Amino acid sequence: MHLAIVGTGAVGTALGIRLSKHHRIAFGSRDPQSEAARQLDLALGTKADVRLTPDAVAEASVVILATPWPVTEAIVKDLDLAGKIVVDCTNDVGPDFLPESSPVPSCAERLAAWLPESRVVKAFSTAGAGTMADPNYGAGACGVRPMMPFCGDDAEAKRVVRGLIEEVGFEPVDAGDLVAARTLEPLALLWIRLAHGGYGSNIAFALLTR
Ligand SMILES: NC(=O)c1ccc[n+]([C@@H]2O[C@H](COP(=O)([O-])OP(=O)(O)OC[C@H]3O[C@@H](n4cnc5c(N)ncnc54)[C@H](OP(=O)(O)O)[C@@H]3O)[C@@H](O)[C@H]2O)c1
Repeated sequence: MHLAIVGTGAVGTALGIRLSKHHRIAFGSRDPQSEAARQLDLALGTKADVRLTPDAVAEASVVILATPWPVTEAIVKDLDLAGKIVVDCTNDVGPDFLPESSPVPSCAERLAAWLPESRVVKAFSTAGAGTMADPNYGAGACGVRPMMPFCGDDAEAKRVVRGLIEEVGFEPVDAGDLVAARTLEPLALLWIRLAHGGYGSNIAFALLTR
């Protein structure tokens, strides 16, 4: 599978390092010579390369967007993402960790409207980058993996993204159609408020069933 990750920040790097164990990664960046790009090159060697974003996504069947929400519209409107699975990791975080703009429609639904020929799946938005880099919470987790809820309207795209979630090390939780992003995105904001409100960033949500 040709996999591209747009953004060489905390999320892009964490997912890239985990997924490079299974796939070759093309990172899309504004500056492939940046310090972040150099660090990725050192960490991943031949398993990944950093290119200008249009070049990185050109051959990819799956494109993970790990970009700040406010610039995401401009980024995707400059790219040819027709026919591709687009994974939306973004969160619209405003002051006091509340949504910056209206939560309805969700970021993922707005993204899907900008990309009518792509198959958008919301995923990797409700856990911290530190947990994406290392989802193992040790003995205290009693064998329960951190969950990663995902949603989308295309069954095949969701099957592919479920596999990526497994590969990163999360428990995939199918939340339904893309409209469910309206519930995933506030969950991410709760995570951010807790992390900044004293719990720290080494926290993750899990789903218990019986
Ligand atoms: N951090 C978390 O724990 C976390 C968890 C879940 C979801 N998220 C969401 O995932 C997305 C990425 O988060 P992050 O923490 O990885 O952010 P980040 O560290 O700031 O990285 C974002 C990356 O986006 C790229 N980018 C492209 N255009 C940009 C622009 N105009 N301004 C700034 N960056 C630009 C940059 O890569 P280049 O310099 O290579 O272009 C940058 O490194 C956000 O929407 C965030 O809300 C974050």
